[in-house]
Amino acid sequence: MHRYTLPYQKQAQTTWLSLRIFPNSTSKLFRIFALFITIILILVTFQNLQGNKYFTPTKQTLNYKGKKISTENDIIVVVDGEKQGLILQPTFCQLSTHKNVNTHVIVTGQKRGLSKTLLTKLINEQNSSCEVFIYDLDIKTNDRIGTLELVFQEISHMLNQLRPEVLLYIKDQDNYAMRGVESALIAASNLDVTAISVPIEDTKHLNWLTHLPVEALKYWNTVKIQIQVITQDRPDSLARLIRSLKSSHYFGDEVQLTINMDRGADPVTKEFCHTLEWPFGQKSLRHRIVQGGLMAAVVESYYPRDDNDYAVMLEDDVELSPYFFMWTKYNILKYRYGPDRIHSNRMFGISYYGSKINELYLLGRRPFDPTISLEGTNYSPRSPYLWQVPCSWGAVYFPEIWREFHDYFPARLQDWNGPKLQNITVPEVRSNRWKNSWKRFLIELVYLRGYVMLYPNYENFASFSTNHAEAGTHIHLTEGSKPNDIFGVPLMEEDLVLSELPGGSMPKYADLPILDLLGNVVSKEELIQRGKALHSEVSLCPPNNELTFDPQDILCFDDEKRETVINETDVRKEHRKKMSEAINLILNHTLDDNGTKIEPEKLLKIVVELYNSSATAVTDVPSSTPIQSLPTETNMKL
Ligand SMILES: *[C@@H]1O[C@H](CO)[C@@H](O)[C@H](O)[C@H]1NC(C)=O
Ligand SMILES: *[C@@H]1O[C@H](CO)[C@@H](O)[C@H](O)[C@H]1NC(C)=O
Ligand SMILES: *[C@@H]1O[C@H](CO)[C@@H](O)[C@H](O)[C@H]1NC(C)=O
Ligand SMILES: *[C@@H]1O[C@H](CO)[C@@H](O)[C@H](O)[C@H]1NC(C)=O
Ligand SMILES: *[C@@H]1O[C@H](CO)[C@@H](O)[C@H](O)[C@H]1NC(C)=O
Ligand SMILES: *[C@@H]1O[C@H](CO)[C@@H](O)[C@H](O)[C@H]1NC(C)=O
Repeated sequence: MHRYTLPYQKQAQTTWLSLRIFPNSTSKLFRIFALFITIILILVTFQNLQGNKYFTPTKQTLNYKGKKISTENDIIVVVDGEKQGLILQPTFCQLSTHKNVNTHVIVTGQKRGLSKTLLTKLINEQNSSCEVFIYDLDIKTNDRIGTLELVFQEISHMLNQLRPEVLLYIKDQDNYAMRGVESALIAASNLDVTAISVPIEDTKHLNWLTHLPVEALKYWNTVKIQIQVITQDRPDSLARLIRSLKSSHYFGDEVQLTINMDRGADPVTKEFCHTLEWPFGQKSLRHRIVQGGLMAAVVESYYPRDDNDYAVMLEDDVELSPYFFMWTKYNILKYRYGPDRIHSNRMFGISYYGSKINELYLLGRRPFDPTISLEGTNYSPRSPYLWQVPCSWGAVYFPEIWREFHDYFPARLQDWNGPKLQNITVPEVRSNRWKNSWKRFLIELVYLRGYVMLYPNYENFASFSTNHAEAGTHIHLTEGSKPNDIFGVPLMEEDLVLSELPGGSMPKYADLPILDLLGNVVSKEELIQRGKALHSEVSLCPPNNELTFDPQDILCFDDEKRETVINETDVRKEHRKKMSEAINLILNHTLDDNGTKIEPEKLLKIVVELYNSSATAVTDVPSSTPIQSLPTETNMKL
């Protein structure tokens, strides 16, 4: 029996050895009892913990000497039994190759299927770099509660000793060792240990986790990703989407699913939603009583709770790859919570769809291929890229910019349907002509601010979502064209997320190519500059220097002018009303309601009135049609 040694002890906590935790007034008997319990605990602990340093001969120890204790991170992985050991081994070995990370593997012992000796052997059989400290709890009992208690004690002790940043274990309510780990984490909640618990079936797809810095892993449980589905009366499409959602890997995350049904939802759709079981988190249903249309349904489905609340927005004709969530969480943690977060504040979301179409050309829809855009640059042709085009065929949107859009959009819609005081025309793109499209207005905001969305760029457009482009509210098919040929892309069915990336990993934010709306490679500065140029043409206020995610600086125009235009529009409305009365009279051969001939004096009076009112009417009215009411129909065109 020997004590386990720790490489670097961080302010070793020994409160449990002392009785400081008990107030002085505590009875002597109780103190003695507590001391007794403590001694038992110590004995149990040291009997069972046979931790030893274990190194496979790889990473040069030079690295170790150069390290400063304060910059070190400790990660604990708890492994119960051989099955868990085999499946988790690539993950902890990979983690151990991180600079400044000490990886500690705690096994539960021979009796439970994996001892230190066996794990050492397993590691040696692999010819890959693995530098971990192994501890053996050597659990001997068969009793489930006894196991839970022992694991609880040992892990609690380890947590206090090591103060790790992260503890990784298998999510399994039926496993009492894992429940012991869970209890220890709850008891140690003051220590700020990030618990990562992953169902065993997801663990073989955990490679991406090891590509994240510990700094980002700390936010594992902070990031909340919700799913918003928009549907009405295509139950077959909806069922296909839900099937793909259910067969995705969520890595133990709790994911809320909301289905937004429009007023016209049919009974089959309603019944489907009603009986749907969603095992990954809360299920919510919404049903509109006034037809919202796609525009309202999509935009209103998500309003972020806070800056860690992300929404995956899906129309029902989309289908997903089993790895869409991996792509989402990996990129959110990497770009928004790791060291890159200071560079990525103009990123508004992540697309699942690797676009092979660009709809924005003035002449119409055109094939698009990022490898052609990247030709002749220093970027790898298969590099994921940042593109200004918002994707509506499967994407996750980020809270800050979506909130800004929620302020921008209604203000623009009101002006566009009314006085048209602001002519915001994004240069050289077709979206300016789209009617009833939220994307059109998001494109404006994106252009004015130099915002970008991340896109996958795998071989043959392999994607995390595809669009089946069923005829619906916004797809207009020309005869003879099969929609799937135009929009459909292959879904990534195998886990090639990392292996098919250039360099096997997502690049640093600054190393991602940036494409403008028409697919040309541009610099971040150039994009921002273009937005500012348009801004100064359309708004009286100068652009904010800092990003504040508040659109007021764009929506600045002369209030007096606004009022004049609105008054003038009122006058014009009155004018037109009289005009149509006169036209009717003349058309009816000057007969009144009763069919009697109208007197010439009365006719004259009306015409003079009309003449008089046109004289006072507006001279300087914008060349627009009169105010229309807000659109309520559904038939959106892109
Ligand atoms: C182990 O890897 C090293 C280099 O990575 C290689 O030279 C060696 O041949 C490999 N050994 C086995 C048994 O695969
Ligand atoms: C709006 O601006 C664009 C580009 O500056 C111009 O082509 C267009 O004619 C303008 N529209 C109106 C209604 O003024
Ligand atoms: C617009 O009409 C309102 C009420 O009719 C009036 O008080 C206001 O002065 C008018 N504004 C302008 C700019 O003509
Ligand atoms: C004239 O014709 C219109 C349209 O047929 C009808 O609505 C209206 O009641 C008729 N009479 C007058 C006095 O306008
Ligand atoms: C139509 O006839 C009725 C009854 O004769 C009368 O009260 C009414 O004023 C007439 N309407 C018009 C527009 O002359
Ligand atoms: C039209 O205007 C003239 C002079 O401005 C005025 O004398 C006349 O009463 C007005 N007629 C009507 C019907 O308002």
